[in-house]
Amino acid sequence: MAKTPDAKTPDIKLHSTKNPQKENVRGAMVQLLQTHLGTSIDLSYQAKQAHWNVKGMNFIAVHKLFDELHEQAEGYVDLIAERLTGMGGQAQGTVQASVSNTILEPYALDIVHAEDHLRRLSDSYAAWSKALIEGIEEADEAGDDLTADLLTEIGRGINTSLYFLESHFQVEPGRAI
Ligand SMILES: [Fe+2]
Repeated sequence: MAKTPDAKTPDIKLHSTKNPQKENVRGAMVQLLQTHLGTSIDLSYQAKQAHWNVKGMNFIAVHKLFDELHEQAEGYVDLIAERLTGMGGQAQGTVQASVSNTILEPYALDIVHAEDHLRRLSDSYAAWSKALIEGIEEADEAGDDLTADLLTEIGRGINTSLYFLESHFQVEPGRAI
């Protein structure tokens, strides 16, 4: 009789490993991390898109900020991919795979002005922050403290970057942005 897959044992093949985490937990975490890998690759090039195309009076400051955000996201790509492969998974690390795996909305290719890039990027940073909080909860519930810790570290960095982006257009407390 065929084995019925259930939510706790995703139907993915894992490499054998001495990693002490249980196989069904590793499978669930590999699936979770695949989403964050695709999102980090997508975000890293959203920041580069802004870096290359931004125009405005504060050009140099935001041009440099967007490059730093790209480098930060690229660092997270590697951390996520190597946690995923360390748990026996096969990283889906291509740009084409990331199109299927990212949680972000497509970044419009015609954005020009600095404030528009800052606002559009802040939407992506907020969306990933929310997904990271959900991922931390999922890893906690699965009993994988190390994946929860990695996602916490990334969430802290992404929250700081969201603050850098939003500070360009935030106004007095209580007024909508
Ligand atoms: Fe550059």
